[in-house]
Amino acid sequence: MVTVVVGTQWGDEGKGKVIDYLAEKFDIIARYQGGANAGHTVVVNNKKYIFHLIPSGILYPKKICVIGNGVVIDPVSLFEEIEYLKNNGIEVEGKLFIAENAHITLPYHKLLDKVEDKFRGKGQLGTTGRGIGTTYTDKFGRIGIRVIDFIDEDVFIEKLRIALELKNYLFKEYYKEEILKVDKIYKDYKPYREGIKKFAINTAVYLNEKIEQGKKILAEGAQGTFLDIDFGTYPYVTASNPIAGGACIGLGISPKKIEKIIGVAKAYTTRVGMGPFPTEIKDDIGEKLRKVGNEFGATTGRPRRCGWFDTNLVKFACIINGIDEIILTKLDVLTGFEKIKIGVGYKYEDEIINFYPFNSKIFSNCEVIYEELDGWGENISNIRSYRGLPKNVKKYVEKIEEKIGIKITKISTGSSRGQIIEKS
Ligand code: IMP
Repeated sequence: MVTVVVGTQWGDEGKGKVIDYLAEKFDIIARYQGGANAGHTVVVNNKKYIFHLIPSGILYPKKICVIGNGVVIDPVSLFEEIEYLKNNGIEVEGKLFIAENAHITLPYHKLLDKVEDKFRGKGQLGTTGRGIGTTYTDKFGRIGIRVIDFIDEDVFIEKLRIALELKNYLFKEYYKEEILKVDKIYKDYKPYREGIKKFAINTAVYLNEKIEQGKKILAEGAQGTFLDIDFGTYPYVTASNPIAGGACIGLGISPKKIEKIIGVAKAYTTRVGMGPFPTEIKDDIGEKLRKVGNEFGATTGRPRRCGWFDTNLVKFACIINGIDEIILTKLDVLTGFEKIKIGVGYKYEDEIINFYPFNSKIFSNCEVIYEELDGWGENISNIRSYRGLPKNVKKYVEKIEEKIGIKITKISTGSSRGQIIEKS
């Protein structure tokens, strides 16, 4: 059966570490959406790995990793990652499978992403510039190029010509950019087309066969619930469905096969790029969180905006994802704060709001209702039992549980594999 791991905030909740920790008990780890915009960080034996496309489970010698059809694949990024892993003694052949029907990100997607976002002016989203939205746009516009098309020389050339004719018109006439040439892309991408062949399979058939055989699958979501194209802070969202439901579409598995959904929540909140963020801290405390938590984008290096935990958000994430349990991450980062706040509701024009509003006017202008708790000074990064945690830490954890109505079962207190507390 299938377990899904999903982000409950704006991404960067520490899913990479959680997936690496959980992967031990699974046979297959499968990514279901997003692309090279993700940056999943895993630290093993003091070595830091950052994964953009390949599931974090690849570090285990006997696990199979799948990149599902819901993912958009930039071959340059994919092969950089494969090369990097090889150089670190990790072989991916025979361990990695890529969906034949996943869509490919090409140079015009990346260029268009950058110029489009610049042209949005005041409405700029602050995308990662990885060609994510533009690849998904082509997928839905029915001019996308899938892995299976990319591999076939004739199909690739034909589809590339059609797509480029349209994109070049935009680049030349509207964005005043240099046009891109079919021949150059064809030539530059030949090694990737050859290289990807050995990984490409019908992953939907493969995964369903494995489910029938009783194998355990961990579905890995990238980004987070509030970057979801349908349920996030639209338009300041990514172009896919990070929510648990996205796993069915992005892997080709039935909702009936999903057994468990695990939500990952950071002990405070961060977001990268533009968009509303009610509990954002704009003073020295926010700066301290960024510094201590090393809150800089794993993909773009951009400083992340930091703020207090927002229970309205995580509560909503628990509902729409159907979360069974929460893994709370980076709790150690909150050590040393005299007072810690938790956002427990919003106030807008004298009205109390106890849910996450889709109305961006409300969400951007609401006042946050906080509860304030005493902090702690003890270093908790080496504590391995919940009972051994300082009293104020437990109070904080239990306040979050009370407000979101879902149990926290594990607490991560550092970037290494071993720094995790089993709470339940
Ligand atoms: P895009 O996914 O590159 O189109 O970017 C859209 C928005 O999602 C921007 O605000 C990005 O900063 C944000 N975003 C995309 N991927 C991630 C991620 O993995 N973590 C956090 N934010 C992300």
